[in-house]
Parts: sequence; structure tokens; C-alpha cells
Amino acid sequence: MDLIIRQGNLPDGRCGLDIGVLEGRIVAIAPHIEATATREIDATGRLVSPPFVDAHFHLDSALTYGQPRVNESGILLEGIALWAELKPTLTQDAIIERALRYCRLAARQGLLAIRSHVDTSDDRLLGVEALIEVRRKVAPFIDLQLVAFPQDGLYRNPAGEQNLLRALDLGVDVVGGIPHFERTMAEGARSVTRLLEIAAERGLRVDLHCDETDDPMSRHVETLAAETIRFGLQGRVAGSHLTSMHSMDNYYVSKLLPLMAEARLAAIANPLINITLQGRHDTYPKRRGMTRVPELLAAGVDVAFGQDCVLDPWYSFGNADMLDVAHMGIHVGQMTSQAAIRQAYASITEAPARILGHRDYGIQAGNPANLIILDAPDVFHAIRLRAPRLQVLRRGQILCEQVATPDDPDLAFAS
Ligand code: FE2
Repeated sequence: MDLIIRQGNLPDGRCGLDIGVLEGRIVAIAPHIEATATREIDATGRLVSPPFVDAHFHLDSALTYGQPRVNESGILLEGIALWAELKPTLTQDAIIERALRYCRLAARQGLLAIRSHVDTSDDRLLGVEALIEVRRKVAPFIDLQLVAFPQDGLYRNPAGEQNLLRALDLGVDVVGGIPHFERTMAEGARSVTRLLEIAAERGLRVDLHCDETDDPMSRHVETLAAETIRFGLQGRVAGSHLTSMHSMDNYYVSKLLPLMAEARLAAIANPLINITLQGRHDTYPKRRGMTRVPELLAAGVDVAFGQDCVLDPWYSFGNADMLDVAHMGIHVGQMTSQAAIRQAYASITEAPARILGHRDYGIQAGNPANLIILDAPDVFHAIRLRAPRLQVLRRGQILCEQVATPDDPDLAFAS
């Protein structure tokens, strides 16, 4: 074999397994593989995980912190104003340079698949062309999926629909939208129908920024689920943010959750962003704003945690670490049971992989050997410590490597 990773622990709780890799694929998983290999990695007592997947990101604005100035107030409206100031000054080269820098950072953190929205509002489609080029350049180490995102509205921006269609013609993968930003609820609902129609015609997946508001009457998610069923797009549509669900009446939600499950609509929460941007009109008590993650999971809805922003007009923090995202998701959603902690880990690994449509994801014989080895014994400690990623492997090749940190006395205590 080319590589054997010895005695690792898997995210599902299995311990002490060898993983054999040949020609970039996993060929064996067993308590002990007799064969020898060109290279062996001792992963005794360490977590061997499939790579992280970020189901919601904005690569066109990432790493622009401070350009042309920082968001002094830290609120959404100043972020929007700042993006409007920045957009006319953007160049394709600058977008590509920043996006590549981000992707290299992401790979070091074991983040090897990203779904990025790309703003299609600008008639020049600068960001679209830039990120299509980035998708090609990073393909050896990151699966980048692009969403055509009409940030200024499909209808509210007179060129919204035309630009979105142009972006799809250029090869953007997924249909995006922002129904709660259209002028009226009716126009927002109409945009949902039109976007699903476009996706059905073109055989594409859908991922809308949906109901990213504290308004409990923002109910585009209901239209999204119902129209998903009508267009036969079950399992291919995601609602991102869905923060209005936090503020909705419980009785209404008891009807909404089964409808979402019926439509096999996926939910993508962005805990870092939602906890900072939602509830900002509240005094006290102050709403957390994140969608109802535990309840969605209990209803059988696929839930991913996304990162949304890193060092951009809307969010000044972040470092491409999906363990940070899961850590925040656990706290905001009060997901502290052992089962919920495992679900939170799934929300940055297998759930977003399903949402992105990756069929060969996971530690299974026959799949590409995309793996990360973490300096932690299990998913709980991986999240607790935001554990160092000792090796990041892509198709059996080591992308990044770092030395282990000295033994953590707490870990010894825990084991
Ligand atoms: Fe977003």
C-alpha cells in the first residue's frame, strides 16, 4: 500500500483502526492491517476524520477586513454600507489573490470543501469570473462549489434575474437568492418560485439566504419547502440562515418542521454570524437568533453549520476553522448533550457533504483518502480544544503537516 494510518479513532466512536490507502483511495479499514506501506502514520489515540466541509461561505468578500475601512459599529447595516463602498474598487486579481489565500488557510485547517456564494449584483460579474478561476485553481486541494447570489435582490435589483442567469451560464453551480430582501413578502415568495423554476430547468441545486431576520412573519422557508416539493427538487434545496424560525410562534413551527422534512429541505445555520447580527433591535431579553437547530435535527432535517464570513465587512473575526463554528453552534443552540455534540461535529462534516451532493465522502473503502488527523482522541476534545490538525490528506497525499502539541494534562485526565 502507499500509506497506512495506524490505530486511529473515528468520529463515530470506533477506536484503534488501521486505514490503508492505495492510489489515493481508502482500500481497507481494520483493527490491524498486515500489509506494509511506503509510509505509515502512527495515529494511536488520535481522531482520524473526514475533512471539514463549509456549506455556507462568501469567498468574494473574505479577508477584506479594513478595506477601505473597518466596520466601526460592528452591525449589519454598516457592513452592507461598507460592502457597497468596497465593491466598485474591487479588481478580479485582488479577489483571486484573497480567495486563494483563504483557500490555503482553509486547507491547513482541514477544510477541503466549501460552498461559496458569489455576489451576482454587479453587472461586470467580476466576482463570478474571479471565483470560477479560483475554483479551477484550487481543484487539486479544495472542492469549491459556487452559488449565484443576487445580494441586491432578484427583483429589487432591476438586473438581478438577468445577472443571475448570466452567472449560471458562465458555470456557477448552484442557484441562490435572498427572498426576505425583496421589496415585499409577495415579491419574495415570487422570487422563490422563479429561482426553483430556474433550478429545475437547469438541473441545479438551490441554496437561498432565507429569512435572515428576526421577523417571525418572514416565512419564505414555507414557500421554499412547498415549491421544492412542487418542482420535484426534494433533497437538492437548502435554506441558509433561517433565523426568523428562532422568533416564530411554536405552533406554527410545529407545522413547518414536518413540511421541511417532507421536502427534504436542508438547513444551514451560521452560528458565528447569527449570534452577532441577530437580535440587535432587542433590548432585554435579547434573542440569540440562530435557527432551531436541535428541533430541526429531531424532525429529521439535515443541518449544517456554516462559517459565512471571515474578516469581511460583516464579520471581523474568523480563521477558517470549522471547529470554531461547531463550538459556537453548540453554545448558541445549547447542544451540550453527548448526542448533540456528535451531531454538531456531523454538521461540519457529513451533513454539509450531503448538502453539497458529495457522494464519495467519508471514511469508507473505495472513497478518496481525504482525511485529517487531529491532536485529540475524539470529536468532543477536537471541538473543545479546536485541536491542531497534525496531517491533512487529499487523495492520499499529505497537504499539510504539523507537530503535535505537548500532552495536555486535561486530556490524560479525560482518558
Ligand atoms: Fe451568507
